[in-house]
Amino acid sequence: MLSEKRNRLLTEVGPGTPLGQLMRCYWIPVLRSQQLPAGAPPHGFTILGEQLVAYRSPEGQVGVVDEACPHRGASLTLGRNEPGGLRCVYHGWKFSPDGDLLEAPSHPQDADLSSMRTGCHPVHEAQGMVWLWLGEGAPPPMRKLAFSDLPDDHVVAVTVKVSCGWLQPLETLWDVFHAQILHNQTNRGSRRGGVYFSEQGRTMDNGVAYDYPEMHAEQTDYGMVYMNVDAAKRTHFRFILPFFDHHALEPGEFADKGLQISVPIDDDHCLLWMVMYNKHAPLDPGGFALQSVEGVPDLTDFVAHMGPRNRENRWGQDRALMDRGESWSGVPDTSLLVKIFLEDLMVIESQGRPDRTKEDLGVTDRALVLGRKRVLEAIEAVQRGEPAPGLTDDLSQIEAAFEAISTAD
Ligand code: FES
Ligand SMILES: [Fe+2]
Repeated sequence: MLSEKRNRLLTEVGPGTPLGQLMRCYWIPVLRSQQLPAGAPPHGFTILGEQLVAYRSPEGQVGVVDEACPHRGASLTLGRNEPGGLRCVYHGWKFSPDGDLLEAPSHPQDADLSSMRTGCHPVHEAQGMVWLWLGEGAPPPMRKLAFSDLPDDHVVAVTVKVSCGWLQPLETLWDVFHAQILHNQTNRGSRRGGVYFSEQGRTMDNGVAYDYPEMHAEQTDYGMVYMNVDAAKRTHFRFILPFFDHHALEPGEFADKGLQISVPIDDDHCLLWMVMYNKHAPLDPGGFALQSVEGVPDLTDFVAHMGPRNRENRWGQDRALMDRGESWSGVPDTSLLVKIFLEDLMVIESQGRPDRTKEDLGVTDRALVLGRKRVLEAIEAVQRGEPAPGLTDDLSQIEAAFEAISTAD
């Protein structure tokens, strides 16, 4: 349970808010590279409550600028993507991808344009992800995460926009236990079903069996490590401030690994990334990553093909499937990642904007409590003028782990 003040601190992300200031200390992944073909119309989007426009010039350089043209505020989503930069259609001002004003037809021929710039944000592109720096001054170097130095064919990064605050998808990862119930049938029917349940655990009075875990959580410099131990497995998860979470996919030294990134769009919407990678080899069509997105037509909105799911249609829940015992949650069968995600989506969007002053938490929520505390401590550190936690650390060795416990004897 949190005070109203601390709940608000964890929710509000706009410019000038304490959480917004923390997040603006870090590089933020905002778009998939495929969303920006060279010379294509500019792409408008919102991150941390800021309205922005991204484009890739015909020469291939990515620029991200504030949406409002600095002359008189026309939207640069209407702009022309020309060789050398983006031109506002209203009075023809043209900006380079670095934000310099190159041409201003409304000014005299000999006007000095050198001091006039648009709000322009540094960009880093790798592994098919476009990262943005929204802070003040010079950006820090890109810190190394587990997949940062891998070739593109070792990584798949997919996105979806979710109608809930950025913290809710993270909270559902910190709450490892929900997978035993919400995803019970989905996991049992999946490639990892055999290692996920011990069949020696508890049973609800409706006959559904699950394993009750011990939860451990410890703070680290970069965020938190948390562990779920039950009769079938030990899984380590690692939360990296401000919004990265390595979560265990399946056992095996050479198995694919994954993390989720929960980027605020505004206080009530977020952009969710699922990044899956393999350090040892290019992703294998038989591996967890490519299998789990098999048949997904659009990796930028990886659940779009399942149709609209929202409060009005009760997130598409199919009661007939539930009545026939074919689905615990009412989500129809589809690829593993999509189905798990749709199950998560329905519960986290159903929370609305959570009132965390009115919760009744238990021992399986131990990591959730520490995760929130770590975010609040990081906010407070930045407010005191201290560096954001883990900002320049090498985090390339920080990953999830999944150890199956043999139940043969
Ligand atoms: S508003 Fe963009 S050039 Fe005038
Ligand atoms: Fe889940």
